[in-house]
Amino acid sequence: MIDHLKQELKKGLENYYLNKYNIEISMVVEEPKNASLGDISIPMFSVVKTLRKPMPELVNEAIEVINGFVLPVLDIKSVGAFINLFVDKAQLSVSIINKCLSSGDEFGNSEIGKGKNVTLDYSSPNIAKSFSIGHLRSTMIGNSLKLILRKCGYSTYAINYLGDWGTQFGKMIVAYKKWGNKEEIMSDPIKKLTELYVKFHVEAEKNPELEDEAREAFRKMELADPEYLELWRWIKDESLKESQQIYDLLEIDFDSYNGEAFFNDKMDAVVDELDSKGLLVEDQGAKIVDMGEDMPPALIKRSDGGSLYITRDLAAVFYRKKEYKFDKILYVVGNEQKLHFNQLKKLIDKMGYDFADNVIHVNFGLYLTNGKKASTRKGNVTKLYDVLQTAIKLAYDLINSKNPDLKDKERVAKYVGIAAIVFGDLKNFRGLDVEFNLEQSVKFEGQTGPYLQYTGVRIASILRDKEFDSNNCEAALFEKPHYFELVKMVSQFKSTIEKAAEECAPSVIAKYLLSLAQSFNKFYSLEKINVEDEKIRNTNFALAKSVRIVLNEGLRLLGIQYLDEM
Ligand code: ARG
Repeated sequence: MIDHLKQELKKGLENYYLNKYNIEISMVVEEPKNASLGDISIPMFSVVKTLRKPMPELVNEAIEVINGFVLPVLDIKSVGAFINLFVDKAQLSVSIINKCLSSGDEFGNSEIGKGKNVTLDYSSPNIAKSFSIGHLRSTMIGNSLKLILRKCGYSTYAINYLGDWGTQFGKMIVAYKKWGNKEEIMSDPIKKLTELYVKFHVEAEKNPELEDEAREAFRKMELADPEYLELWRWIKDESLKESQQIYDLLEIDFDSYNGEAFFNDKMDAVVDELDSKGLLVEDQGAKIVDMGEDMPPALIKRSDGGSLYITRDLAAVFYRKKEYKFDKILYVVGNEQKLHFNQLKKLIDKMGYDFADNVIHVNFGLYLTNGKKASTRKGNVTKLYDVLQTAIKLAYDLINSKNPDLKDKERVAKYVGIAAIVFGDLKNFRGLDVEFNLEQSVKFEGQTGPYLQYTGVRIASILRDKEFDSNNCEAALFEKPHYFELVKMVSQFKSTIEKAAEECAPSVIAKYLLSLAQSFNKFYSLEKINVEDEKIRNTNFALAKSVRIVLNEGLRLLGIQYLDEM
C-alpha cells in the first residue's frame, strides 16, 4: 500500500544504516498478502546477513528507528524476521488526496529521469509503401513512451527514421522509368507506386537483368545523380503525405525526420572504422563482420558496393550518440527485427564502445485477425487511415444513439475512435501478438479506451458546478475498504508510471487505469456521492476528483484525450 510511505521507510532505513554503519543495504518494504498481519511489512533478512548481529537486537533497533520517523503509523509489531506496520489509514488518505488535488496534472511526476536523455526511434515507415499496422503500433507505443519518460523527468528526442533509402528505390525508379506515368501515379500515389513495385518483381522473374538495372539505379542515387534524386524526392514527398495524415489525426509529432537517406554520406566513416579496427572480412566480394557463434555475420557492404540497412543504422547510432548525447536509445520496432538489433549492439560492442547495453530494442508483436497475421501487403491494401476513420464513424454512431443532443459530436467521436484504437493496442504487453477487434474496442464497456473516457465523464458530471473543501473531510471514512482501495490506487500512480518507464511498457499504465476505473465504478455503485452531510460530501467529492485527475493524466500518457462529455 501507499507507495509513498513505503518509499519513505525504505529510504529512511537505508540512510540510517549507511550513516550508522557505513554500509549500503537494499531494504525490501512490501505489503503482506494477509492484511491482518499489517499494512506494510519489512523483512530483516538482508540486514541480519550484512550486519551479522542477533536478529532480535536488529529488529528492535529498526523499530526504534521507525518510531523516530514522522509517519502516519498506528502500530508496529514484529513476527520473527518481519517488522509489520499498521498504518493510520484515515490520516494517510487525507494527505494523499490533498496532495493529488493540489498537484493537479503534475500528480505522479517523477524525477527518476532527471538530467538524463533518451532518444526514441519510432514509427519509421518505409516510403513508397503503405503505412503498415506495424508502423502504427510503433507510432502509438513510441509516442506513449515519450510522454511517460517526460513525466519521469527525462529529456526526450523523438526521431522518425524514415525508410527512404535502399535498393528498393532503385527498383522503383527503374519500374517508373519503364512503365510509369506521373499523372496516373498522382491519382493515388502509394497504390500506384506499390503496383509498379509489384510489376517490377513479376517482370524480373522473367528478365533477371532488371535486378542489375535496379542496383545500378540505386548506385546512381548513392552517387547523388540529380535526375534520380529528384525522382526519389518526389516519391518521398508523396509518401510522407499519407503518413502525415495519420500523425495529424493522432496528434503525434517528432523532433526529427532524418531517415536512412540522411546517413548516406555518413557510412564511409563507419566502414573505415570497422576496417581499421580489423573487424571487416572479405566474403565473395562483400564485406562482413563475423559475429561469433551465436549470430550470423553482419553484412556491411554488398559486393557491388551498395550500402545496407545495418550499416545505415550503425552510422545513425553514432551520429545520434554524438548529437543527442543519449543515456539510452529506444528502437520501437517489431519482433521480426530482433536479430538486426542484436547485431547492431554487438557491432557497437566489438568496435570498443561502452554503450551497447543502452541500445534497447523495444520490440512488439503482430496484429492477428482470427489468429492469422493481419497484412496490408499483397494487394489488399487497407489503408490504415481508413481503418482509423472507420473507428471514428463507429464511435459517432454509438454517441449519436446514446446522447443525440451532445454538442460537438464530431470532436467527441474523433477522440473516442482514437481511444478505441490506441487503447485496444496499448493495453496489451507490447511483446505479444494482439488479436484486434474494432467493434469491441469502441464499446463504452469492457476493457476499452472509451470505457475509461466514459468513467471520466461520469466523474466530471458528478462534480459539475459543485464546490467542496477537501480540508474538511470525514477522515474516518477511509477506514472503509472501498474508500481505502481507491486512495491506495491513487497513491500508486507514480510508481506505476515509473514501472512503465523502466519496462518501456505503456500496458502497465493501461492496466492500472482499468483497475482504477473499475474500483471507482464499484465505489459509485456502493455510495451516494452528493449526500447531505457536509463532511462526508467533501470526502466523496475530493476522492472522486482525485480519481478524475489520475484518469485524465493517465490517458494523456497513452496518447488518449480525456473528455468532459460524451
Ligand atoms: N523502416 C523500418 C521498417 O519499416 C523500421 C526502422 C526502425 N528503426 C531503425 N533504426 N532501424 O522495417
